[in-house]
Amino acid sequence: MTAPAKRTLLVTSALPYANGAPHLGHIVEYVQTDIWVRFQRMRGHDCLFIWASDAHGTPIMLKARQEGITPEQLIERVGAEQRRDFGEFDISYDNFHTTHSDENREVTYEIYRRLVAGGHIRRETIVQAYDEQAKMFLPDRYVRGTCPRCGALDQYGDSCEVCGATYTPADLLHAVSVVSGTAPVQKQSEHLFFKLGDFEPMLRAWTSGDRLQSAVTAKLDEWFSAGLRDWDISRDEPYFGFGIPGETGKYFYVWLDAPIGYLSSLLQYCRRTGRDFDRYWQPDSDAEVYHFIGKDIVYFHTLFWPAVLVGAGYRPPTSVFAHGFLTVNGLKMSKSRGTLISARTWLDHLPAEYLRYYFASRLGDGVEDLDLNLDDFVAKVNSDVVGKLVNIASRCAGFITRGSAGRLASTLADAALQGEFAAAGERVAALYEGRDLAGAMREIMSLTDRANLYIDQQKPWLMAKDPARAAEVQAVCTQGINLFRVLAVYLKPVMPRLAAGAEKFFGLPSQNWADAATPLLDTAINAYEPLATRVDPAAVKALLAASAESLKPVSAPEAAATTVPVVTAKSAAKPAKVAATSAAKSAELVAPPAELSIDDFMKVDLRIARIDSAELVDGADKLLRLGVDLGELGQRQIFAGIRSAYEPAQLVGRLTVVVANLAPRKMRFGLSEGMVLAAGPGGQEIFLLSPDAGATPGMKVK
Ligand code: MSP
Ligand code: ZN
Repeated sequence: MTAPAKRTLLVTSALPYANGAPHLGHIVEYVQTDIWVRFQRMRGHDCLFIWASDAHGTPIMLKARQEGITPEQLIERVGAEQRRDFGEFDISYDNFHTTHSDENREVTYEIYRRLVAGGHIRRETIVQAYDEQAKMFLPDRYVRGTCPRCGALDQYGDSCEVCGATYTPADLLHAVSVVSGTAPVQKQSEHLFFKLGDFEPMLRAWTSGDRLQSAVTAKLDEWFSAGLRDWDISRDEPYFGFGIPGETGKYFYVWLDAPIGYLSSLLQYCRRTGRDFDRYWQPDSDAEVYHFIGKDIVYFHTLFWPAVLVGAGYRPPTSVFAHGFLTVNGLKMSKSRGTLISARTWLDHLPAEYLRYYFASRLGDGVEDLDLNLDDFVAKVNSDVVGKLVNIASRCAGFITRGSAGRLASTLADAALQGEFAAAGERVAALYEGRDLAGAMREIMSLTDRANLYIDQQKPWLMAKDPARAAEVQAVCTQGINLFRVLAVYLKPVMPRLAAGAEKFFGLPSQNWADAATPLLDTAINAYEPLATRVDPAAVKALLAASAESLKPVSAPEAAATTVPVVTAKSAAKPAKVAATSAAKSAELVAPPAELSIDDFMKVDLRIARIDSAELVDGADKLLRLGVDLGELGQRQIFAGIRSAYEPAQLVGRLTVVVANLAPRKMRFGLSEGMVLAAGPGGQEIFLLSPDAGATPGMKVK
């Protein structure tokens, strides 16, 4: 077999914002990237993993302001957290820089100069929401108000989370600035635009064929049909970013200089190590450049970014690999729902490597979302890694250590089986190469089953009872250990620590992919030390409890950043020892109650409601659709998960208690505009609350 040609690769992950510590959603991407990079290196390719934190923009400016520190101090602090957490997840990056750096300023200015010289920048005066008190223009997300289409309260300035309408902040009713709480005005300002339309032919060519994932290509077709719009790359002061040369009070929009961070972090790395930077980005480069990103930032990476690169005389990336979003126990990661688990909290309770394995087993080459189901996590790791994989080594090791003085036999008992394992290497490699990590894990696990089956059939523990069969025991266990060795190599991109433990056991240096093909014979191995231990479900409980800790009352500065803090019905209901029921709540993570200040509790508007109608919901056998009367607040529709305990007819006419100021929630069946309170564990034991006689609809519950 001829050795594959040595490739030169530059790989990046999306640059995490420098305003918060990493969470498990970030870790999905960084583990995915890292596995691919480690695989390429094991194949003998020259593969750099270049990365940085994304340090500019309004959220970072405001966050630093609220903490009373400079943005530089914030970037510094968060950068240290990022490096620490990524390091402990064994992300093997070659450089982690920041976009707020001299190198990034240098490259950004050069790229801008070339774009201007190429005629790709134009000016236009636009009108935007402006906060007169804070003296700043407001990004769409910093204006909130009532949706002009469905009337949902407290929606962002660009789109409604309830009905899906998209609009501009000027369309919102009762708009307020999140920064100062005052009503924004409309104000003019001149902006600089990158003429994306100039690059349409180039982009159509670049995105055609099978360069990108099919789901991404389909999305691009939609965008092309809708027409490419020029891109506003400037922002007015105050802004945290790079000032635009030749302009006053204007800064580059964070998304212009963020991907340029891919170049500038490489530049810093090359200057430090003496590598050739130009090798990677010149139009005639033979290096492969890949960006791993989440599906939310595809537009930036498949349209703006290649156009900016080509407009500035560089080459576009070889490809962009998008992945889906992580949910936890089936729920979107969200701070307020208690489904946000930080990287740090995970590391405090559970091994990083087990999460790497779990993510690998859930990640295909597409953009589908993936779920971290914690029960499944425990079951899968205990079964695959501990019960099957490591079991091969632990079943064989003792016989070699005790029975054969620690020496492996000089021939294999079943050379054909070893040959099958070696031959599987190219199949597994092709799956890694195509980023079908789940496929690679399945292949490795089926080999693992095969190895266990071999040992089960040979039964060395029975042979060992007969001293005359010592040589046979040694041969069978040498075989088992060699099968394990191959598997440890195939799994090494995912579980580098387990692989290092295996290398120590074999007394071998760091193994590469090709090493798996040669069996290890007639040599001494070291005493076996357990390479993996079972996950204790108690550690998972502690992880969830600790994640709920981080949901303690929103601190004052943070509250200012995010508009009126929304108290979830969950936290509101807990202190009163009442379980809130709604369809939305059913699958929440189990977590002990977070403390709540009396002020926060007072924000929950509890009201007496009269149930005027109750109906079954087609397609949702746990729900009832209730029509309730809230007196002065009018009529509402609420979906409540109480079907298992109540017949609709029983409910009509009765009074109960609801949370009246919960943000409306769009469900498959319609809008749910509140939450009914009830006690009990669920099933038939759900007990609606009832007021004493005399209470009337709309009365406040205090
Ligand atoms: N700063 C930008 C990227 C600039 S790249 C030139 C950004 N930062 S981010 O911190 O919000 O996200 C970093 C990466 O993590 C993105 O690729 C994003 O898609 C990914 N994820 C963030 N939350 C995620 C999940 N819940 N699940 C999976 N990936 C997620 O975007
Ligand atoms: Zn709406």
